[in-house]
Amino acid sequence: MTGAKEAHTEPKRDITLRVHRFNPQVDGKPYFDDYTIQVEKGITVLRALNYIKEHVDASVSFRAFCQAGICGSCGMRINGISKLACTTQVWDELDRCKEPGVIRIEPLRNMPLIKDLIVDMDPLVDKMKHYSNWVVSSMPESRMGKKEFLVSEEEFQKYDKATDCILCASCVSECTILRAHKEYVSPAILLKSYRMNVDSRDSIHDARLGELVKDHGVWDCTHCYRCQETCVKHIPIMDAIHGIREDALEVRGVKDSSGAKHAEAFMSDIEKKGKLVEATLPIRTNGMAWTLQNLLPMAMKMIMKRRTPPPPPLVKPAKGIKKFREMFREMTEHVRAEKKSHKK
Ligand code: SF4
Ligand code: SF4
Ligand code: FES
Repeated sequence: MTGAKEAHTEPKRDITLRVHRFNPQVDGKPYFDDYTIQVEKGITVLRALNYIKEHVDASVSFRAFCQAGICGSCGMRINGISKLACTTQVWDELDRCKEPGVIRIEPLRNMPLIKDLIVDMDPLVDKMKHYSNWVVSSMPESRMGKKEFLVSEEEFQKYDKATDCILCASCVSECTILRAHKEYVSPAILLKSYRMNVDSRDSIHDARLGELVKDHGVWDCTHCYRCQETCVKHIPIMDAIHGIREDALEVRGVKDSSGAKHAEAFMSDIEKKGKLVEATLPIRTNGMAWTLQNLLPMAMKMIMKRRTPPPPPLVKPAKGIKKFREMFREMTEHVRAEKKSHKK
């Protein structure tokens, strides 16, 4: 794959791509094929796959287009982490191989598999539609095209990074909640929703927010940060998730959903005691009826095993709580002041 007559000075070596294979029309279950090729330094995983497709096995299927980290088509799991094949260097991956010289290539997770390395993006697109991931203009149609919408530099800063998203679905593939619940909104959709909701040209903020706080929405995120760690564009996805939550608490209030109540109870405990009062957290989050119906059997087991968390009066404030409370209040006031100044 070195381009025959070119006088390369880069070092070369044999590597093996262990590629996930599955053709639903003929295969009963997935398997892996090993392709050993010679590559020089500077070759991307996508170029290595292209070489295999052109010279070794034309049946290997994957999706790619721009070859420049722009279109988001070539997302796949390389040595166990979701990333773009066109911006991933083979030589960098060699340091991360479990088996020396063998790079494992698999499809993205959390999306239905179509063939080999190709996953079905339709469920993600359906979620984009469900959460209205586009700007619905507030400008009357009669004025469209006659007047510009001006966006201030300050406003643009709020969603500048979010607009870098290329919908590669790497974060979706890594999301820990999606592994268990396919209905979960997903990090990429939360990012897009945030971006639309802070855009002054948009007119459906409240309706979109209303969907985001329902079941499988923003409150289901566990804050594991996995999506942000793997984002191929280094977008601070968690800022968007926190932004939506803060917006929900402010606009809709804490009584709006169990997620909001959980956050409120959590903050209240931390402010008062510097630690959680776990025994009453489910009641304060979901109410007595829900707690009795859903957690009573588990509570009985915990009582039998003497593993129940202490009742509220026995939860002593953490050491240094006075100083902590001062810091907590300062931080809360600072956040409020910041928000006020952003709104101006
Ligand atoms: S932080 Fe939330 S959205 Fe991101 S991977 Fe974890 S659970 Fe998913
Ligand atoms: S947020 Fe990052 S990882 Fe997720 S789809 Fe957008 S660019 Fe890809
Ligand atoms: S081929 Fe377009 S991002 Fe990789």
